[in-house]
Amino acid sequence: MTFQFELIATDGRARAARLSLHPRESRTPMFMPVGTQGSVKGLTSKQMEDLRCQTVLGNTYHLENRPGSDLMKELGGLHRFNNWSGGTLTDSGGFQMVSLLDLAEISEDGVTFQSPIDGQQMMLTPERSIHIQNGIGADIIMALDDVVSSVHHESSRFEEATQRTLRWIDRCVAAHRRPSEQALFGIIQGGLDQTLRDVCVEGAARNDNLPGYAVGGLAGGEEKDAFCRVVAQCTASLPDDKPRYVMGVESTRVVVCVYYSVCSALGADMFDCVYPSRTARFGTALIPEGVLRLKTAAMASDYRPIDSECDCMVCMQYSRAHLHAKITKEPNAASLLTYHNIRYQMRLCEQMHQEIVDNQFGQFVGRFIRRRFPEGH
Ligand code: GUN
Ligand code: ZN
Repeated sequence: MTFQFELIATDGRARAARLSLHPRESRTPMFMPVGTQGSVKGLTSKQMEDLRCQTVLGNTYHLENRPGSDLMKELGGLHRFNNWSGGTLTDSGGFQMVSLLDLAEISEDGVTFQSPIDGQQMMLTPERSIHIQNGIGADIIMALDDVVSSVHHESSRFEEATQRTLRWIDRCVAAHRRPSEQALFGIIQGGLDQTLRDVCVEGAARNDNLPGYAVGGLAGGEEKDAFCRVVAQCTASLPDDKPRYVMGVESTRVVVCVYYSVCSALGADMFDCVYPSRTARFGTALIPEGVLRLKTAAMASDYRPIDSECDCMVCMQYSRAHLHAKITKEPNAASLLTYHNIRYQMRLCEQMHQEIVDNQFGQFVGRFIRRRFPEGH
């Protein structure tokens, strides 16, 4: 197995690590931008490299639709397809159907849903998800899980989903054809129930064929205390020598950056969120104090950069006034804001890595949160 996870330093429960899947290497804590087709909307691969973007998320379902995993395999896999030399990760696909469409039916065999593209009935089993992900060829692939929205269902449904997720992990491991090239991560489910989370962590941690783990089932709008409690509980009992990925921090949480720092403090290593790139397309830039809405009238005569501390090309070259003038007229402006927002996340992760190495992470998170919430909210 060429996949390696090496702890460089710890500070409290926070970890700074090196994650390598030959020949690529990433540092944690790591934010992973979402690119539906495996590349971030509005950015070229060269720009993603310039941003020191390490790993990009692709969506299995969308990639299976176009160009299709068989064609992708023929074309040499996701990296070749996107001319992207950085890391890649694909989610198993069922989650999007269950969470976004409400058209899914779940049985022991798998998830059946109607394609949102052509209305066709489609079935995703653990074996099929892994087959597709083996064809796409991302560095990290995810096991198919039985996802239940944490705010909607009865406890018996969570129990069933937890046990099924564990059975599906075994089926995914058995179906995986490229274990030496692609790291298969298991996903922890169990809703907000402490016992079920324990059962799932224990069952998944027993499997030696999983080089990493994800905490799932948390993108459903639960209270922040519940979110933190589940992340803390899972990270505390997952193996120390493997990476931990908190999946899909909710896109409407404007304070996603705070979430990353809190998750890192709780011992998580990887995160993804569509918010930074999505909000850029609506004219919003991320700054240490919160957000900057470039469409507002106050920006028209503001000649400062988006963020005077940012080292990105946009902050070096353009003023808020320039971006304000362009934002409603030229699609290119959305790309510029995406560029800054992704760099903002990368810089935050680079900083967090260094603060953990320097044993200053607690103070850093305190400063970061006070700056974001000066009133103490
Ligand atoms: N993305 C965000 N949450 C989840 C989850 O629970 N499972 C999967 N597969 N993907 C997710
Ligand atoms: Zn910038």
